[in-house]
Amino acid sequence: MCGIVGYIGKAAAPPILLHGLRRLEYRGYDSAGMAIIDGRQLLVSKAPGKVANLKEKSKCEWPAELFSQPSYGIAHTRWATHGPPTEANAHPHRDQSGEIALVHNGIIENYRSLRARLEAKGHVFLSETDTEVLAHLIGDRYEENLFQAVCDALHQVEGTFGIAVISSREPGLIITARRGSPIVLGIGDGETIIASDAAAILAHTQRVIYLDDNDIAIVKADHVEIRDLNNVPVNRAVAELELDASAAEKGGFAHFMLKEIHEQPESLRNAIRGRLDFALGSSVLSGMGTSPRELAEINRIVLVGCGTSLHSGLIGEYAFEDLADTPAEVQQAAEFRYRNPIIGRSDLVIAISQSGETADTLAAVREANQKGAFVMGLCNVVGSTIARETGRGIYLHAGPEISVASTKAFTCQVAVLLMMALKMGRSRRFSRQEGMDFARQIEAIPSLVAQVIAQNDHIARIAESYAANEHAFFIGRGPMYPVALEGALKLKEISYIHAEGYHAAELKHGPIALLEKGTPVIALANDIPGKDKTLGNIEECKARGARILGLITAGDEEAAAVMDDVIEIPACHPLVATIPSAVALQLFAYHIARIRGCEIDQPRNLAKSVTVE
Ligand code: AGP
Repeated sequence: MCGIVGYIGKAAAPPILLHGLRRLEYRGYDSAGMAIIDGRQLLVSKAPGKVANLKEKSKCEWPAELFSQPSYGIAHTRWATHGPPTEANAHPHRDQSGEIALVHNGIIENYRSLRARLEAKGHVFLSETDTEVLAHLIGDRYEENLFQAVCDALHQVEGTFGIAVISSREPGLIITARRGSPIVLGIGDGETIIASDAAAILAHTQRVIYLDDNDIAIVKADHVEIRDLNNVPVNRAVAELELDASAAEKGGFAHFMLKEIHEQPESLRNAIRGRLDFALGSSVLSGMGTSPRELAEINRIVLVGCGTSLHSGLIGEYAFEDLADTPAEVQQAAEFRYRNPIIGRSDLVIAISQSGETADTLAAVREANQKGAFVMGLCNVVGSTIARETGRGIYLHAGPEISVASTKAFTCQVAVLLMMALKMGRSRRFSRQEGMDFARQIEAIPSLVAQVIAQNDHIARIAESYAANEHAFFIGRGPMYPVALEGALKLKEISYIHAEGYHAAELKHGPIALLEKGTPVIALANDIPGKDKTLGNIEECKARGARILGLITAGDEEAAAVMDDVIEIPACHPLVATIPSAVALQLFAYHIARIRGCEIDQPRNLAKSVTVE
């Protein structure tokens, strides 16, 4: 997620801004920049890559005294969403006059129409970003009051923002505002810090003010005035931070994995935002770069990936066959690249990769390209190798995933695959009404996940009863079978328990020989086709003494009666239910690993991106 830092006080801004950006580095980013005003002029320096690059570049570009004389300014670490990580796309962005600079977190959904309007008025843009459009919009509205110009501009914006704005036409103040992307103000002694999260403030003060959505603030060195976007003053309490630097980086959570699990309602909103067309009952995925006619000519879909990304592909397989009547199959990327796959121009190969750098998946992309297939990427990292080499595809917008164990990227992969299947289905037999209904189901996913996360304490209590086991079985049917595989992977990779996922019907073909008294069986018994058969499989396990944790549809008393422990999943479409069910198993695995005292974010033997065969 991008990072924002602003400083106004008695000191020199550049060192403070650079230090603040370093405190936000953990969030993941791919370029950085800062803008300062030294009482006379507005200076901007930007660099792709690390904050260290920005430090070196600004010291070359700016006079040495700027790093010691009083000044104020804003700074940003960018995690690319619109446009690759280049200097031109890095923030801050200026308006047409060059006298206003802005940094922005969030996504402006209507930036294309705003940009067209401004270009018609003669504005010239230097980047591909949505953010630069907002800078120009503010400049276009500016007459003599920066606060009012920002207010007017934000009234035209659809989407989310956390911004900080400065202008050499009005020295001595920073305007900051938020809608859907956090902004916190650090109230120091004769200085004020603006940041997208508290980690950048801790070095200056523990006294903070959190802006609410649609708050806009006039920030000076010794005074902060907060209003709403209708220019009505609002009161926001000063709170005391009780975080140390390490805890602040994790947003107060004990581990990045837990933070990222809790981020999923927001990351799923970002993945879905602007991509559902309820009028047509379809999805809007411009990155697929295909017309309905081209989609209609695809005869088969091959999904390739590794690990968790393979598991989301398995759910995608069910989705494409159920919604689009199109044959679909998943192939482990390493297998695909060596088996001389039989694919061609009427096949769509979807390469799924959070990092966009996994060697086996990249090799599969190259093999598919070689065979003339239609290739797309489903990646989280903008500008990653797989994203570039597939040439088309969909970005997850899940935000940087720091913990090695993939959580929010997985659920966003599934959500995007459901939207891809919806779009393909509407180019085939899926009716408009069916499409509208399914689009509503997708729209509800963030709230379904929030309902499961609200059960965190309940799941933690259940984990206490399973943490001592050294073996565990996860079982499921239909689209819940891949969820069983993913739940087993989560548990094994962070708790080191030997966990295996099986199709529920498969246990009696051998694995049931391993069941002993107390062996945990985690059963996905959601109320979907095949549930009764799964309940029968559970009875077979109980007859051998197994202890059963059941994920059931909320209120399903028949299923609850069979289980030793229960986690309720909100009722929804079977394909959609895979996402909240996976989140429940993420929390289950997390709490077991926590109880066992494991190193959760960086498990032994594992890397976040496997860039070797
Ligand atoms: C998932 O928790 C693991 N970290 C691992 O299986 C991962 O999903 C796999 O290495 C694929 O990574 P990618 O999505 O970045 O390609």
